Amino acid sequence: MSKIEITRLHKRYENGTKEKTLLFSKNVSADRIFGGEEGFVLKDVNLKIEEGSFHVFLGASGCGKTTLLNIIAGLLPKTSGSVKMDGKEIEGISPERGLVFQNADNVLFPWLNVLQNVEYGLKRKGFKGEELKSKAAGAIELVGLAGHEKKYPNELSGGMRQRLQIARSLASDPEILIMDEPFGALDAQTRMLLQSELIRIWKSTGKTILFVTHDLNEAVLLGQKISILSAAPDASIAYNETVPFDYPRDPLDSDFVQYTAEIHKKLNEAIAVHADRIIDKSA
Ligand SMILES: Nc1ncnc2c1ncn2[C@@H]1O[C@H](COP(=O)(O)OP(=O)(O)OP(=O)(O)O)[C@@H](O)[C@H]1O
Ligand SMILES: [Mg+2]
Repeated sequence: MSKIEITRLHKRYENGTKEKTLLFSKNVSADRIFGGEEGFVLKDVNLKIEEGSFHVFLGASGCGKTTLLNIIAGLLPKTSGSVKMDGKEIEGISPERGLVFQNADNVLFPWLNVLQNVEYGLKRKGFKGEELKSKAAGAIELVGLAGHEKKYPNELSGGMRQRLQIARSLASDPEILIMDEPFGALDAQTRMLLQSELIRIWKSTGKTILFVTHDLNEAVLLGQKISILSAAPDASIAYNETVPFDYPRDPLDSDFVQYTAEIHKKLNEAIAVHADRIIDKSA
């Protein structure tokens, strides 16, 4: 059985209406108001994501990547179709699915230090005493923030804040890590560092990772599978690729460069192709 199985998923934001995007808890919600568009944002998305895989999503801006990830996370309702995890329909958020967003600043608590930020979610899940301490310490260690426990978010660099966000998600040991452009706002060097750290974390934990990026190089560096979405509206999966390289990967290697160019070409085609002329629906 696949870890995640998406069948005939359709998503339409109601025209001119507010749609609530749930954040972190069912009690906290943020209204996002959009003008709405004719047709579907996502139309007939079919996809299987295997347990333990590193699955990357590529697609034009506004095609629906965040929408898709938010539906898988359980933050957004779907319009129709099925999205299952371990054979069970996803309905709402769950600690089994950890989230990492592009901007850590919206997510971290500025009045809590590194340790307290990581402990916060664990405490809410009922951990205390030694177990709480060891889980928090383990997650902090895993992302390379050991020694910085007492620092507050404003005393950390952008890369460290992003590590903290990842530590917080990992601490409660989710089965899936859902990452929406997690390194998008970082400088090139920090990004490279965190890319290799993420591979290390993925290898040592065996988690399933869903990862959105705009960066082709990052997609080929990290992904075992790459799903390329077609353009909005009515976006669906245009291509499903299996990256033919082991880790660690060398972006300067000629095979890597050539493969990245092929993905680039497919991305351009996918952006140009409307969803009713889907190139490859098998997944
Ligand atoms: N809450 C909402 N209500 C109404 N429309 C929305 C909402 N969220 C997103 N949309 C619309 O859905 C479409 C897809 O948005 P989404 O954020 O999923 O794109 P994306 O692929 O993640 O883009 P980017 O790469 O720029 O992050 C866009 O047209 C957007 O305006
Ligand atoms: Mg997005």
